[in-house]
Amino acid sequence: MAEPRRIALMPGDGIGQEVMAAAAEVLQALDKLTPLGLSWDWLEWPSTDWHRRHGEMMPADAMAQVQAYDALLMGALGDPGPLSDANRYCLPDSVSLSPLLQFRKGLGLWACERPARLLPGAPQYLADARAAEVDMLVIRENSEGEYVNQGGRLHRGSADEVATQLEVFTRRATERLIRHAFVRARERLEARGRGAETRHFHCADKGRAGAQVCLITKRNAQPYWGDMYTEVFAEIAAEFPEIGVHHELVDAACMKFVQCPWTFDVVVASNLHGDILTDLAAVLSGGLGLAPSCNINPDSRAMPALFEPTHGSAPDIAGQGLANPAAMLLTTALMLDWVGCAQAAERLRQAVAKDLATAAGQRRTCRDVTAGVIAALH
Ligand code: IPM
Ligand code: MN
Repeated sequence: MAEPRRIALMPGDGIGQEVMAAAAEVLQALDKLTPLGLSWDWLEWPSTDWHRRHGEMMPADAMAQVQAYDALLMGALGDPGPLSDANRYCLPDSVSLSPLLQFRKGLGLWACERPARLLPGAPQYLADARAAEVDMLVIRENSEGEYVNQGGRLHRGSADEVATQLEVFTRRATERLIRHAFVRARERLEARGRGAETRHFHCADKGRAGAQVCLITKRNAQPYWGDMYTEVFAEIAAEFPEIGVHHELVDAACMKFVQCPWTFDVVVASNLHGDILTDLAAVLSGGLGLAPSCNINPDSRAMPALFEPTHGSAPDIAGQGLANPAAMLLTTALMLDWVGCAQAAERLRQAVAKDLATAAGQRRTCRDVTAGVIAALH
């Protein structure tokens, strides 16, 4: 018998608690159907509650502890407490969200993947009927760029104050990111080839292609990194002649995400551009309640990967059982893929889709959706 893969369940704050309970129930149901070969531990950290009790979001040796796991499944972080409570335990974002960035950086999880596919039955916010075809994968640089957290403030609070915020882009991180985007595009092309219908994307240089990578930059205003990204993109694109290529500036990309989102396939973007575009992509796929996300090191399984939905802790609805666990469940499917349970992952994705299609338009609680998905697994 192979050693079971080890998963850490980290519910975190706010609706993280509710959606993680849903994920655990669904994992148990899947395991009953076909043993997954997984073992999972519940961790109370990182969380604002842990901070309340211990003065920090997670134990000092947390980074060492998590290395015992193959995957970290996280709910959400950030808990401002009830607004009515004058003494509420309210941490600044820079504290409560720091474990997320620490895990991404400290575990070398340099790619953030956020698939956005509009499932039948999900809210469609765009009027154009073709918006139902949205099926894109945004790959976000996750280790550097605008998130290096270097800079400072000079003459703080005075009229002469100066704030600097450094952005760092390395060729090494750019190459691995863009190559990974093309690898994913090739996988999508192969999967489409096996399916009945094939999508086609218009490409300036290749006419039509069955899969495409779109590079996002802001090179008209930020030419240094924009040009380096564009050059690396051209070099790597040459290794993938079957994949179409496309370029957009980030502002125009925002417009086209709304105007013609079905023309995007794999999208590759810097850390900050990817962050912004993936909230937009989440809406295109029915909202944050349906948007999964993962942080991985595609080159190495030595470190645990981190799986957390794109949504936050939603303090306005936390504790009421109203959160939609679908994003968490689709994130759990990404995790199952990562730990080698591809069949269970696909089964879970289909169950979420089936449940959504059946219940289209109804207002449902976290419990309703969880029960519906479990029923649809069978
Ligand atoms: C996300 C979030 C984080 C990010 C925040 C919470 C730091 O918005 O995962 O998209 O900016 O990466
Ligand atoms: Mn974000």
